[in-house]
This record gives sequence, structure tokens and C-alpha cells, in this order.
Amino acid sequence: MTVPRLYDDLAYLWPMLSPPEHYEAEAEVLIDLIDRHFKRAEGDRYSVLELGAGGGHTLVHLADDYDCTAVDLSEPMLANCKRLVPQVQTIVGDMRSIRLGETFDAVFIHDAVDYMLSEDDVRRTLDTVAVHLKPDGLCVVAPTYTRETFIDGDVADDGTTTDNAELTYFSYVHDPDPTDDTFEMILLYLIRDAQTRGVEVIEDRHTCGLFSNEQWLTWMGDAGFEARQEEADAGDPRGPGGEPWSLFVGIRK
Ligand SMILES: C[S@@+](CC[C@H](N)C(=O)[O-])C[C@H]1O[C@@H](n2cnc3c(N)ncnc32)[C@H](O)[C@@H]1O
Repeated sequence: MTVPRLYDDLAYLWPMLSPPEHYEAEAEVLIDLIDRHFKRAEGDRYSVLELGAGGGHTLVHLADDYDCTAVDLSEPMLANCKRLVPQVQTIVGDMRSIRLGETFDAVFIHDAVDYMLSEDDVRRTLDTVAVHLKPDGLCVVAPTYTRETFIDGDVADDGTTTDNAELTYFSYVHDPDPTDDTFEMILLYLIRDAQTRGVEVIEDRHTCGLFSNEQWLTWMGDAGFEARQEEADAGDPRGPGGEPWSLFVGIRK
């Protein structure tokens, strides 16, 4: 698998491209799911593992109240995470195969699960989730799109300025082959240097997995979870009809 440049030499762009505040509403949804499941009282601390935690933009919203561990394939992304939330334990590893030798109250995979490209990838990842959860533990898997909410030709753009650089980016999502289980996200970065005023244009293509609600629920059930789908309003409607965010929630049997 080719590592997208965003998670490699361009990882320094991550805090500019998708800052932690963009993750706040979705983090609130996760917190609510965890707190409701455990009937959490003020001051109770639960252990939480995020697989594919990237720069910690979700975990930063949980780290004060939960004991958080972050796993990711990318060292530079975990370095971003450590800078942002030093109290989070960071571990380099692949969500399909990592075995930490400990269990957690909750395990979640947010947008990083988009990088699971086949049924085999997803099933291996769900096995990883299952072995890291305590009995009755909670798992939440939140792909950006499911087959039902996918928007072919979806476009987004944004920009940020820091002392050293100005970043403008465009993202374009499309499905070149609707008969397979993947789609492509093309990111274009325009990076303007504050000193030289020169603009560099970089194209970064990401291949992502696309599965139906039924596939997610079946595979979670097979991995040993009592699985359900939840819809949440995270302030960012997806899908052709502006559908809410779909999450897959599992209780370890
Ligand atoms: C969109 S970023 C995640 C951002 C993260 N939700 C945050 O809060 O900053 C996707 C992440 O998935 C990670 N990733 C992709 N494939 C992976 C794998 N097989 N195992 C672990 N991490 C993976 C990438 O390295 C990248 O950091």
C-alpha cells in the first residue's frame, strides 16, 4: 500500500488542513456513546484506544477525562499527536495486525478506517478491535462514507495561514470503478511560502474503502460484537440527501 504523502513527508500540513476544532462535534458524539454505555459518573475514568489516531485531533477532546492510547501507522502523524496531547500514549502499528497485550474499555476507529480497502482488511481490523476490548467493552467504527452515503464527485476546499506558510487545499472524491470496494480522494495542496511568496502545488491521491451498512454490521457481528448502526448529527451532513453521520457501534459479547 502506498502511504499518502499527507501521512508521510507532508504530515506537518495535517494541523492546518484538518484542525482539532473540526473534530470537536464528532468527538462529542463518541464521548456521548461511551458515557451512555458505561453510565459514566463525573470523575470515572475509562481507558480508550483509537486505532489510526493520526494527529490526535479527536483524542485531544477526550484526553482530559479518559486514559487514551493512540495507534497509527505513521510516525510523523503520531509526532503531531504527541505535540498536541502529550499525555496520550502513542504506538506505531498497523490496525490490521497490532497486538498490544492489553485491553481497553472502549476502542474506536474514526476516519482512519477509510484506509481499509477490502473485506479482509476490515475483518482483520475488527479482530484487532475485539482482542483489545474488555468484555462488555464498546467499539465505535466511523467510516467517512458508506455505500449509502457516498457522494460521487464531492468537492471541498479550505485554507489556513500560519506564520510560515499559507495552505489552500481542494479535495475531490470519486468512484472510478463502482464494481469494486474502493473510491479515490484526490487532494491538491497549494502551499505558499511566507518568505519567498512562491506557491508549490502538490497532488496527493488516497485510495479508500467503500462498504455498505449491511457489510459493516455483518462483519462486526462475525467479529463477536452485538452490532448496531447509529446516526448522529455532527454538524456535517453527508450523502446526497444530507444524511447524518453513520456510525457502527458494537458491544463485545
Ligand atoms: C484522516 S487521518 C486520521 C486523523 C485522526 N482521526 C485525527 O484525529 O487526527 C488517517 C490516519 O490513518 C492512518 N492509517 C492508515 N492506514 C492505517 C493502518 N493500516 N493502521 C493504522 N493507521 C493507519 C494514517 O497514517 C493516518 O494517520
